[in-house]
Parts: sequence; C-alpha cells; structure tokens
Amino acid sequence: MSKEHLVIFDTTLRDGEQSPGASMTKDEKVRIAKMLEKMRVDVIEAGFAIASQGDFESVKAVAEAVKESRVCSLSRAMPADIDRAAEALKPAALGRIHTFIATSPIHMKYKLQMEPDQVVEQAVRAVKQARNLIDDVEFSCEDAGRSDIDFLCRIVEAAIDAGARTINIPDTVGYAIPELYAEQIRQLIERVPNSDRAIFSVHCHNDLGLAVANSLAAVQAGARQVECTINGLGERAGNASLEELVMAVRTRADAFEVETGIDPQFIVPTSRLVSTVTGFPVQPNKAIVGKNAFAHESGIHQDGVLKHRETYEIMKAQDVGWHTNSIVLGKHSGRNAFRTRLQELGINFGTEQELNTAFQLFKQLADKKHEIYDEDLQALVTDTRAAA
Ligand code: KIV
Ligand code: ZN
Repeated sequence: MSKEHLVIFDTTLRDGEQSPGASMTKDEKVRIAKMLEKMRVDVIEAGFAIASQGDFESVKAVAEAVKESRVCSLSRAMPADIDRAAEALKPAALGRIHTFIATSPIHMKYKLQMEPDQVVEQAVRAVKQARNLIDDVEFSCEDAGRSDIDFLCRIVEAAIDAGARTINIPDTVGYAIPELYAEQIRQLIERVPNSDRAIFSVHCHNDLGLAVANSLAAVQAGARQVECTINGLGERAGNASLEELVMAVRTRADAFEVETGIDPQFIVPTSRLVSTVTGFPVQPNKAIVGKNAFAHESGIHQDGVLKHRETYEIMKAQDVGWHTNSIVLGKHSGRNAFRTRLQELGINFGTEQELNTAFQLFKQLADKKHEIYDEDLQALVTDTRAAA
C-alpha cells in the first residue's frame, strides 16, 4: 500500500535564526536554502519579511535562488506584514505566505489585548488578504498547545473557509506531551467540518525535550506536515529537529502511514553547514548528526558491530551522509577492536603473545587518555617490539 506524503517544512532560516546569536546573512541563508533544496525539503521558511530590510532581502534572495522547494515568508495577521511577505516572494516559482495570530487565553488577554471574536475576525481578514496575493496560504494558531479546543475548532474552520490550505497547530512554548498533543490534533481533524480541505501541520518547541516525540505522535494522529529545523535550532530550547523526525519516520516505517521525500544523504553535510554558519556546535551525542552518533567505544558493542553491524546500529552512517561508522579505541575497548584497528594500520604481530603484551600496554594507556589515536598505537607497537 502506498504511503501518504509527509510535508517537511524547514524553518531553520526563520525560527532557527530566532535562536539568540544565530543570525545569518543573506548569502548564508541562500547557501543553506540551496542545501535544503538538494535534500528535497518541501517548504523552506526563509524568514519574516517585515522584520527587517535584511530579512526582506533574504526571503527575496532565497525565492530567486530556489526553484524546487516552496519558499515561505512568515507574517503576522496584519495587512502590512502580508503585503511585505508577498512582495518578497514575488520571484518565487512556488511561494507561500504563513500568517499567524495567537489563540491561547493568556496571549489573547495580555499580549494581543483582544477578545476571541476579534481574533477570529483578524485571522479571517489576514487569510483572505494573503489568498488574494498568493495561492498557497498557511495559517497558524500561535500557542495552540495552550489554547481551548472549542475555540481552536472555531478559528480553524473560519481560516479554512477564508482560504488557508495548511493549518498549523504550534506548541509555541513546548508545553505539550505526546498523548495529549496527538489527541488535540485528532479532535481538530474530527471536529472541524471542513478539515478535509486543509493539511494539518505541527510545529513543536523543545522546552521539555519533547518536540520530536510530540511531532511524531501528531503525525500518527493525522498531521501531514511537520515544521522543524536542522540540528533542532530555534527559539529557547529549539524546534523539533529535522534529522530526527526524518530518520524516525524512515527507520520505523512500520509505525507510520507516511513517508517523506527527503534525501537523507544531505543530512550530515547540511548539519555541518548550519553549525559552521551559526557558530553553534553540534553536541557529540546528538542523534544522527553528532560525532558520536555512529561511534562505538565499549568492547562488547565493538565486538558485536565487527561481527554484524546491526547488533548495535539501527541506521547506517553512510545513509545520512557520514563517511562511515567508527570504532573508537578507549578504556572500554576489547581485544577484537584493538586487533582490527592494528590490521587496518597494516600491523600484524607474529605471535599471540606479542598481541597480548601490546593489548596490556594499550589498556594501561587507555586508563590515562580519553581516546587512543593511531599515533598512540604506532608508539605502543614499537615499545612492544622493543621489549620482545
Ligand atoms: O512557535 C510558534 O508558534 C511559531 C509560529 C509563528 C508558527 O513559530
Ligand atoms: Zn516557533
């Protein structure tokens, strides 16, 4: 049975850039956007056109440079924002205006200082204005994770009637937990009478470290677009990470009725590029793209992987753009990994006794060093041979 398409909406260049200290120049944004296009990301949110002249120029430059992915600009539900977004998107082969307004009681009361009826009216006006300027309009209910479900049903129905073709339900403050968030999505799809005329989207923040789990639960409940960023970059604790979402859907295909169009070979190169451009290092133990994601240090694991890779690997390093997986020699490493590395270096001991001596020296050294490099091994072999 063929699977439904899961739209990958990358917001590295917009929400990712909202990470304090992660701002990017126009040229840097274009470089990243071109990589995202090669990766076959469906939608690239290039910026917030009204936020600054620089952001306007960046959205425009990305719209000029990218032709295969849809290019999107964010805008508040305000006439000037929407006009500015449409202007920046003029060169786009495929464009989208993404307009939003807050729907949670706390945001409506304190931030917007508006009544719920006024919020619905403003949302409808914004979506209609955007639809007069461009075919593809997304509407987001900001802080949906803390919004009332009846009110969400009402505003979503109105936005779809006004012409929105993607409805985004953001967990703006990372408050959701998987089961409840999935239930919110399920109810919206069931209860909104015209829900079949829109794609439901999720946009999760990582304040509780649940952004990816929440997004995946929502996909199982019917969401067909996920909004995410490379390396999980984004406001505060970040957004759901693209690489984790894509590889979860691919690796656990048994659990999902959807598939993405992403070419995973570009995941690691794009992660590196985003890290270099922003100056945000990727933590070594970050899933998929961290330098330890496919590295094995313990003897038991190394022995298993050397006998059959899948004993301790659920994905293949090469599939996501790594050159290879790695066996790291350290104090937990075993004889099999030690011997294998020596053989790779072209070193073969004449006797098992010599190998044992070298292995003992290696263990003594490993107790003093975090990692044993090839140069350490060469020195160790010289010492062993000298002692023989
Ligand atoms: O987190 C959020 O609610 C957003 C919206 C503007 C989509 O980034
Ligand atoms: Zn966000």
